[in-house]
Amino acid sequence: MTTYILAIESSCDDTSAAVLRNDEILSNVIANQSIHKKYGGVVPELASRAHQESIIPVVDAALKEAGIKKEELSAIAFTRGPGLLGSLLVGLSFAKAFALGLAIPLVEIDHLHAHILAHFVQEKGKRKATPEFPFLCLTVSGGHTQIVQMDSPMQFKVIGSTIDDAAGETFDKAAKIMGLPYPGGPVIDKLANIGEAKFPFPRPKIKGLDFSFSGLKTSFLYFVRDGLKENDNFIEENKQDLAASIQHTIVDILLTKLRKASHQTNIKEIAIAGGVSANSGLRNGITQMAKKEGWNTYIPAFQFTTDNAAMIGIVGYFKYLAHDFSSQDITPYTRHEAKTKY
Ligand code: KG4
Ligand code: ZN
Repeated sequence: MTTYILAIESSCDDTSAAVLRNDEILSNVIANQSIHKKYGGVVPELASRAHQESIIPVVDAALKEAGIKKEELSAIAFTRGPGLLGSLLVGLSFAKAFALGLAIPLVEIDHLHAHILAHFVQEKGKRKATPEFPFLCLTVSGGHTQIVQMDSPMQFKVIGSTIDDAAGETFDKAAKIMGLPYPGGPVIDKLANIGEAKFPFPRPKIKGLDFSFSGLKTSFLYFVRDGLKENDNFIEENKQDLAASIQHTIVDILLTKLRKASHQTNIKEIAIAGGVSANSGLRNGITQMAKKEGWNTYIPAFQFTTDNAAMIGIVGYFKYLAHDFSSQDITPYTRHEAKTKY
């Protein structure tokens, strides 16, 4: 049986629509919202308005690129949460109306679940190996930092998470302190490649598999402030080394906990997911660690690291096969609930 899923992602500041034929991606269209750049972060109200403007053209482009008529669709999958309420509402309302109009099932998707299962999206003509269950996934995005043990596509345990800031947020805040544009992660990554991690920053002392990044953010702020007291050009003269140092520290904190999680669970199938999994320091670091630890690692292609609708579509496909459908009276959720089943 061939299944065609139209997927919609609108949880934050990118409007995306994708079409999947079974687990294969036929199109994955993303409209980035540049409006937020001048505010140094996402402005929720502007984000939902931009989603409203983009959603129809983006869906239209995804269907055209896939060469699929809307009547051929098997189901509509959309991000129910977590994310910004107004942004989620745009995608959800569109998906409900579209599903109702076409009389096809509506499938709700959890955004973090989708980041993880993005590893199962296949590209035509280059099918890749997928993680074996159970596997561990370090999910690192702008709003979340978790180590998740995936026991099956739908069954999971969150075994570690941040008690304050997320890893992506820490990149973004460090960039802001240095006067760099939003989102800061990719900018820091580029600068770090030509810098030296010569400034030491403290590591948090958090027990178990949880993370904390707020202390690092504060010590980075004070370090830069002290540097500026001595030298007005401190940031300009040291930006590569500052970027390399903060990136090195964040990656070290993440990988130390990931190794601990692997030792505790005895799982050596290891994946990374989410926007921060695009980071070259993290990608190199995990590859090095894998050699020492004997891990099989799964590092997503760049197009599946940051928010995209193809990752929503693959979960939609799994749920469609399981007949796990949503009703028309569903509402979004803004925070990740403590669930044990997606
Ligand atoms: O997963 P994502 O697109 O959106 C959320 O679900 O939050 O992640 C966005 C985050 C931002 O904080 C951004 O700075 C970070 O991912 N990011 C990176 C890189 N590319 C994106 N962080 C570090 N290095 C990168 N290359
Ligand atoms: Zn995301």
